[in-house]
Amino acid sequence: MNVPMPGGGGQRGKFYTNEKARFNPRLFRKLIRFALPYWKMLLLALLLMGLFTAADIYRPLLEGQAIDAFMEGVSEGTLPMQVARNGLMQLVGLYALMVLAQFVLSYCRTMTLRSTGQRIIRDIRSAVFRKVQRLPLSFFDKHPAGVVVTRIVNDPDALNELFTTVVLGMFQNIIVLMAVTFAIFRTDVSMALCLMAAMPLIALATIVFRLKARVIFLEIRNRLAHINAFLDEHISGMGVIKAFHMEKSKIDEFRNVNKAYYKANMRNVVVMGIFRPFIDCVRYLALALLLWYGGIRTLGGAASIGMLYMFIKYMGMFFHPLMELAEEFNTLQSSMAAGEKINAILEEDEEVDPADPVPVARPLTGRIEFDHVWFAYEGENWVLRDVSFVIEPGQSAAFVGATGAGKTSIISLLCGFYEYQKGRILIDGVEIKSMSKKDYRRHIGLVLQDVFLMAGDIATNIRMWNERVSDERVREIARYVQADSFIDKLPGGYDHVLRSGGGTLSSGERQLISFARALTQDPEILVMDEATANIDTNTELLIQEALLRLQQNRTTIAVAHRLSTIKNADRIFVIHKGRIRESGSHDELMEHRGLYYHLVQLQYNGASEQGQQT
Ligand SMILES: Nc1ncnc2c1ncn2[C@@H]1O[C@H](COP(=O)(O)OP(=O)(O)O)[C@@H](O)[C@H]1O
Ligand SMILES: [Mg+2]
Repeated sequence: MNVPMPGGGGQRGKFYTNEKARFNPRLFRKLIRFALPYWKMLLLALLLMGLFTAADIYRPLLEGQAIDAFMEGVSEGTLPMQVARNGLMQLVGLYALMVLAQFVLSYCRTMTLRSTGQRIIRDIRSAVFRKVQRLPLSFFDKHPAGVVVTRIVNDPDALNELFTTVVLGMFQNIIVLMAVTFAIFRTDVSMALCLMAAMPLIALATIVFRLKARVIFLEIRNRLAHINAFLDEHISGMGVIKAFHMEKSKIDEFRNVNKAYYKANMRNVVVMGIFRPFIDCVRYLALALLLWYGGIRTLGGAASIGMLYMFIKYMGMFFHPLMELAEEFNTLQSSMAAGEKINAILEEDEEVDPADPVPVARPLTGRIEFDHVWFAYEGENWVLRDVSFVIEPGQSAAFVGATGAGKTSIISLLCGFYEYQKGRILIDGVEIKSMSKKDYRRHIGLVLQDVFLMAGDIATNIRMWNERVSDERVREIARYVQADSFIDKLPGGYDHVLRSGGGTLSSGERQLISFARALTQDPEILVMDEATANIDTNTELLIQEALLRLQQNRTTIAVAHRLSTIKNADRIFVIHKGRIRESGSHDELMEHRGLYYHLVQLQYNGASEQGQQT
């Protein structure tokens, strides 16, 4: 899989940029709706936070009181020992109660917040997956699986941080800061100012840190994406690497990618390594200042020892939220970036279905008409030009032509995988754009060259999770398409469990399963795109017989390279550079001596040459 490298060239859609996303109120309003269903829980968490903080702020007051009111009083002889003891006992009792209450509050707060967070992540993940299921195939042409997986798995986590850690965390820290500021200024203004003297330095350090950290975080993210992309490509392409003896050079290449990531992380280590000790340093200098100034005031009688103690405690409480705020700003940025990416997916255009779809006839007669259809995957790069044809119910049609002529595109349009730009495609006289895709796709059995088997057993893969198809029927159909002989040889037979992709089966075996799969639906229209390309001639002959029987009561469309396999088709269309150049039966076309005739000649000669060689 080819994941575009961030920072490198290549395809860079909106999913790879926006790394610099700052706080964006419009986006925030959009994202907040994931948190809205849980507003009660979040409010509760906020309330618990508030109570916890209040207790936190109150504790130093009690501590200071304990020192001043009793110890000092006793030492100066103004307070009888017994009174002080009782008072102290009460105070300590209250203190212990508060500590216990804080323990409970803290537990409840964490649980509320975390469980809400996990629910939000679950919701976002489901929403993104639901959206992805509704996107047209063209989306997946542009966005590699690895990137889409990241959008579903990793980004919701980052986005969740926005609601739980960042928004609530900032709220709490700001409240703490305000409360502490209020408390110290109320106690002693000049000592409070002394503490505030450290503020400019802290502010400066924080700003510098934020700027540095942002650049570094971006770098780390990019380098990580780089490593992931590299690994993804090189693990998927292991066969090619081994076949072309690229192991050594790839190891060197990885060393470089890895080194870049290491370096980015090291820069982070250095910056973080400086920031915290620097803040600590400022903090202890401020403490020294406070000890000096507070000490003088205490000696002079303007302040008490308890007050000085309280101030020292508050100082600790003041610096902690400051540092947290700085870090929360960083998280805010990265979670907004994740939010932006999730939002970009959520805003992608879905597969278009009409608001008021024409119901699909059951059963269909299976008449297919292309009426001057023009189609381009992108812009005006026409892949199909003015394609018109009619396939009558029960007819078998075949499309032949060079690689890249547009055969698969015709089939993709018929299945509604892409939207055509001009003309009309009609099934039973109804334009497919006016039907619901889900409805009419049910009537089309599709067999492709590359078959994707899902993780699960063979029988389940044949019935495609449709419980209405009995085991008997599965076996019957498997016999019909000659898949039974290889299935019987698998360990467990029909219960043999496949891994996703079905990589342990040969391409031909996968195609046989795909035939069976299409038939369990009993479709009125059967479409086969190079469906027998990987099957040996022997098996193909066997299937051919089955296919002939299959075609009796349904419309079939086949694309095939081996012209021998489509010789009996009612109508053969020759596609050349997106246009239908010839059409007719095999005999008619042979007589015409045009493109088809030449194709047949080429294959015939090629085949006889091969025959001579072996
Ligand atoms: N998903 C796609 N996005 C853009 N271009 C495509 C896509 N699929 C096919 N094409 C282009 O459209 C043309 C016709 O392709 P296709 O219909 O697959 O040909 P065929 O099946 O006849 O070999 C080719 O030039 C191919 O490169
Ligand atoms: Mg094709």
